[in-house]
Formats: sequence, structure tokens, C-alpha cells
Amino acid sequence: MFAKAAQAVPPGQEPPRHVAIIMDGNGRWAKKRFLPRVAGHKRGLDAVRDVVGACREMGVGYLTLFAFSTENWRRPQEEVSFLMDLFLRALENEVAKLHSNNIRLKVLGSRERFSPELAERIQRAEDKTAENDGLVLSIAADYGGRWDIVQAANQLLAEGATEISEEALAGRLSMSWAPEPDLFIRTGGEQRISNFLMWQLAYSELYFTDLLWPDFDRTALEQAITSYWQRERRFGRTSEQLPEHLRRDKP
Ligand code: IPE
Ligand code: IPE
Ligand code: MG
Repeated sequence: MFAKAAQAVPPGQEPPRHVAIIMDGNGRWAKKRFLPRVAGHKRGLDAVRDVVGACREMGVGYLTLFAFSTENWRRPQEEVSFLMDLFLRALENEVAKLHSNNIRLKVLGSRERFSPELAERIQRAEDKTAENDGLVLSIAADYGGRWDIVQAANQLLAEGATEISEEALAGRLSMSWAPEPDLFIRTGGEQRISNFLMWQLAYSELYFTDLLWPDFDRTALEQAITSYWQRERRFGRTSEQLPEHLRRDKP
């Protein structure tokens, strides 16, 4: 289905290797329907399923979803508890399907504030899917980009480093095993990073949509990727220096 929709794809273009998404707007989605905020989080999980399936089919290598930030602990206690419970239930109910679809699950962030039950479930899900090589699905939970940079620097200190290089720091970030995101998407209309992958987004293409996360689906993802395909990624160089197939403004 996607291949058909993508006939306008510039020749030689591949799906982004790594897509990172801030799934925002669940609360507003619920409010619009006079429902409690948590109803939006519940529906957000349906959108996650849809987008994971679409990425798997399109051949995206890495999908990273921001589910809970280090700052989200500031929310009302009932909402935090609901989100933790939703995460636990999702691990219980969805991991077998992820595994049968050859998807590897990773969870990014500090686990110290999670319940022992949740921390153990995460570990089990990661272990079970560790050998899968279809799509790497990373869920950022109790994750913050600043936390990540600081923990990487602390690792270097613990190793006795006296100087820090970009390579050494990048090698200790929690996603050091993945390429940096090619495409960053934020739903919900806000245009900010909210302490997501601070370091790794340095050269990502940014895409913002007003769609609220529960309304985001495969078609919306295809639109984001189509926008991505129209970008010219120069990484500091001039357009003329790029190989012909990567230039958008052909001579
Ligand atoms: C994103 O939706 C989900 C989380 C941050 C957990 P929000 O809950 O932030 O929804 P809005 O932004 O209030 O609409
Ligand atoms: C960012 O959304 C975090 C997640 C989607 C998990 P927020 O809704 O928490 O971001 P702010 O507070 O509006 O920046
Ligand atoms: Mg929000």
C-alpha cells in the first residue's frame, strides 16, 4: 500500500532508518470528547500499534517513541499511576506479538523509579526479543535527553577519563547502538523538543503536526516520510557538494 502511495518518491530514496516520535496530545484528544485525560493515553496505545506495524512493513530500522519524560513525574499522581499501569499491561499483552513479528524491544531511561514489577517486566521483554532483527522499537520512559548526556559523562568519569570527546560521549549514550534519528516527529501541535534525544537530534529532520497522537496513524506517518523525502540534508555542506541523488534542487 505504501509503495503505491510513494510513487512520487525521489529515486534512490529509502525509508528513514530511524524515526523518533514525541507522542503528544493524548490529554487534549480526551478533553475534546469530555473524557478523562487517561482515556487519551489508552487510545494512544492503539496509535502505537498502528505506527509500529507501519514502520515494520516499510522497512524502518529503528522506531523510538517518547512515552514518559523525566519531567512527567510532575503530573497528578493518579495520571502517573495510570501511565505506569498502562505500560505494565502493554508489556504483558503486546510483547508476544512484537516477538512474533521479529521486533526487538528496548526501553530507554532510568528504571530506578519504576516498581520492581515493571522493571522486571521490561527486562524480560528486552531479553525475550533480544535476537530479533526486524525493527528495533525503543520506548523512552523516565527518559530525558539531559539525563542521558549526564549519565554518559558519569560513565566516562567512572572509567577514569580526564577528557571528553564527542565520540566517547556518544558511545555511552543510551542509544549508542543506533544511528541518530533521520526523522523526528512531534504530534499535538507543540514545536519543542521537551528534553527528548537532545544530543542525537542534532541533524534530524524535524516534522511537526497538529494531529493529536491518538489520531496519528499510518497515513499520517506516510505524510511525514513524504515530507522527509523532500528535504535536502546537507550536514553543513553546500548543495553542490552533495551526490546528485541527494540534491533536491537539481541543476
Ligand atoms: C502525551 O500526551 C503523553 C504523555 C506525555 C505521557 P499528553 O498527556 O501530554 O497530552 P496533552 O499534551 O496534555 O494533550
Ligand atoms: C513530552 O510531552 C513527553 C512525552 C510525550 C512523553 P509533554 O506533554 O510532557 O511535553 P510538554 O510538557 O508540553 O513540553
Ligand atoms: Mg503534552
